[in-house]
Parts: sequence; structure tokens; C-alpha cells
Amino acid sequence: MMQKVMEIALKRSILIPSNELYSPVGGFYDYGPVGKALKRKIEDCWRDLFLRREGNFEIETVYILPEAVLKASGHLSCFGDPVVGCSKCGKKFRADHLLEEKGNFTCGGMKPEQLTKEMKEKKIVCPECRGPLGDVGWFNLMFKTNIGPTEGTTGYIRPETAQGIFLDFQRVFRSHGSKLPMGIAQIGKSFRNEISPRQGLVRLREFSQMELEYFFNPSSPKHPRFKEVENEKFIIYTREEQKKGSEKCIELTAKEAVERKLVPNEIMAYFMAREMQFYMKLRIPYDVLRFRHMLPEETPHYSGGNVDLEVKTSVGWVEVIGNAYRTDYDLKSHSQSSGKDLSVLLEDGSRVIPHVVEPSFGVDRTIMCMLEYCYREGGGAERRDWEWFDFPAFISPFEVAVLPLMKKDGLSERASEIANSLREKGFDVIYDETGSIGKRYARADEIGVPYCLTVDYDTLKDGTVTIRFRNDGKQSREDSKTLPEKLHSLSEGNVVCLP
Ligand code: GLY
Repeated sequence: MMQKVMEIALKRSILIPSNELYSPVGGFYDYGPVGKALKRKIEDCWRDLFLRREGNFEIETVYILPEAVLKASGHLSCFGDPVVGCSKCGKKFRADHLLEEKGNFTCGGMKPEQLTKEMKEKKIVCPECRGPLGDVGWFNLMFKTNIGPTEGTTGYIRPETAQGIFLDFQRVFRSHGSKLPMGIAQIGKSFRNEISPRQGLVRLREFSQMELEYFFNPSSPKHPRFKEVENEKFIIYTREEQKKGSEKCIELTAKEAVERKLVPNEIMAYFMAREMQFYMKLRIPYDVLRFRHMLPEETPHYSGGNVDLEVKTSVGWVEVIGNAYRTDYDLKSHSQSSGKDLSVLLEDGSRVIPHVVEPSFGVDRTIMCMLEYCYREGGGAERRDWEWFDFPAFISPFEVAVLPLMKKDGLSERASEIANSLREKGFDVIYDETGSIGKRYARADEIGVPYCLTVDYDTLKDGTVTIRFRNDGKQSREDSKTLPEKLHSLSEGNVVCLP
């Protein structure tokens, strides 16, 4: 499935391999016009759900951080993966992945010495040339650089967007109400020098995150809107089941998950319920979503507990969100390292270093999951023999394709006018006049356009156009004057078949 999806994604330039004119370098993808539009809409949907409706703030911070920041955050000493090299061909691999691929085995938290021992016992050889592997070492995942021309001014490209938020926290807090709880978010690129990038968009070296840091008073780990979601259900894969090697999961409401202490606090459960709403809005089905309580040995260095959202894909369960209870780890470390007091003044006159719950979403992985779940191999009511994407109408990269039946007799001109007037009304429109109408429908389907408008001779006479619905290929005739309202209501209701 992943291969099929990647093929059509490349064919229609939804994705473009970066630096394609030169030798390929793994772990980088560009987004073409369709991919970029899909990405922007997913990010806007997230902004709407997690920022605008919640009254949380969005900021934008720099990519390059001085060494002192990452020393304080723990990334310099803790942020790495185990690496092993082949003594024959010289290639390097993730030692834990090689071991895990060998069988039902997890290496979370294993030290390099332990991994070396396991690899020798299991007689693991180089997967490329079958040569012998050396001892396992530790590889820091951050890209290192030099800031300015002076040697010794080391900087790193940020490995997460979160650090900028911790650095700016106090200013934002003071200028925006000085009250806890407060959510501060950032959408942007992060960079990790992965040892073996793989599986398309799943493991990239340059990727996008949508991260929310929710700062709260640790003596009151409550979310003011928890009541709204307390009965929402989700599936949890507990530590006990993982340790047993079982895949069994349990279904609980957000309230039950808190009561049974399967999540660190109510705030995290609140976000988990909202996360389910977000992914289901993107049409990822409920039963392929599960929250996995990370085992202590796999939990990131800054986290007092992670409950990550995973999606079942054709390449296995893929983590799309890391939900971390970061406690006061980051603010405290930055406070100690910088010598600046990062505590805040509470209404009762006391001071506290806020605690943080962080939902951290991977944008590229979300796109990968959407591509898989929206992919249709063909068939359908029209018995079409082309592949297509069933994106929800509201998030389709292009909502409308405008197609003149012919290029002649003024049809192109009229169709261009209609396309431009829809653009003026805020629609993302594709205009296509090349090839047969059937081919143009197929091209529109391939990039998931929900509505094709055909401009024909009747349009010139009476101002009507046909709307072709993507999912059943059926058509209705509409007055071009009322098209914007009509298309808007169809898209809002995700009406993708003739009503
Ligand atoms: N901020 C958490 C992460 O990047 O994984």
C-alpha cells in the first residue's frame, strides 16, 4: 500500500524527492503544489482545533540554537540512537532496528554494550553485504553547525520546535495575561540526522511538527474544559500488555483513563480526546488509532510519562503524536543554566515553575496516514480504471476543478471567468483545459478534487454549469451565480456524491 501511495504521490508531484537532480540523499522530501496545499490545510485545521478554539497562542522561533540551550535541555547528552557499522562495506545502521527486525524483540532503553552483546548472540550481520558488524556506538541526532565565522561558536539546528517555546515562555506569559494555564504553540520544521531514514515520510531528517506546550500549575493539573470530553472514548495499549508481548488493548473514556491512572493527569486525557477528534476529522478511522503508553526505558529524557498516538498503517503502527508530561524539566533546566528565574507569580502571591503537558504532532506522518487511508485503487460506481484520493472535501488540496468542455467558441474564456470568480471567493481552484474531458476528470480524481465544474454550450446560453461529484461520478446542473454558496455548503458537509 505504501508503495502504491508513494507512486501516485510522485506521479502527481504531491511529493517530490528533494535534490533529485543530484545523487539521492535519504530522509528528505519536497512537497509539490498538491502536497503543500494538503499540508497547509492540515496545519490550519490543527490551528483551528488546538489554538483558535482553545485560546492558545502561536509563536514562531528560530531554527538555530546555541549549544548552551541544547546542553540545558539535555539534547546534547541524551538525544541519540545506537549505531553500528559494517567492517566490510562501511555502511552504518540503527542497531536497535536490526535487532528488532530479527524477531519479536524490543530494545527500548538498551545501552550500546548490551546491544553489542545481543547482536553477537543473535549473529546479526550487515543487511547490505552480510559482512561482520562492529561494536554498537552512540550517535547524537542533531545537525551541528558553526554560528558566524569564529570557530568554537557551536550551534545546532533545532531537533524539536518546543525549545523555542520554553525560551520565550516568560515574555509571552507576562505580555498575555500572566495566568496559568496557558498554551503556547509552534508549527514548523525540526531536524534530526537519522541514521537510517525510511518508509517514505515516516522517518525524515527534515520534518514538520505542530507542538503545543500547555503550562499549568502543578498543584492543579486540571483542564477547564475537561467536562466536554470526559465521556469520549479511545483505545489504550497499556504497559502491562506490551510487557506480556500481547497486542491486546482496552477501550476507555477520558475520565476512566484518568481514574485508572493510565494517563499522567487530566490535562493529557483532555488532549487525547481532542486528538481523536482531529484524526477522525481527517478521516483516519477510530479503530486504527491507539494510544500506547511508552515503556519507562523508551520515554524521552525530558518526559515524566508519554502516551503516544499511533496509527495502524501498511508498514505497522506509526507514532503520529508524542504526548509528553514534561513536568518542569525544561523551564527548571533553563532557569538553572541561564541563571534567570523562570518561575511565575500566582494570584495568591506564591511563585511556581509551571509544569507542561506537550502534545507534539508529526505533520509529515499525518500526511502519510491520510494518503494511505484516502487512497482508492479505482473501481467505484463509475468503474474507473484510475487511482484516486477520497480526501475529506474541506481539506482537499484543491476543492474545485473548472473544465471547459472545449477550448473553442468562447468556452475557455467563460470557464476562466468562473475559475477566477471562485478564486476571488476563497476557493482553491484548478483550471484544466488540456485533453479529453474524461482524462481531466481522472486527473482531478488523482489529486482528490471533490467537485469538477464543466462549462459547456448551455453555460453560454443559460449560465448553468455541471457539478461532477468525485465519489460517484454523478452530475447535477447548477446556476453559476449561486455556485459559491452551493460549493461551500457541499464542502462543509463533505458531500462527495450526488445528493
Ligand atoms: N517535542 C517532542 C519531540 O519532538 O519529539
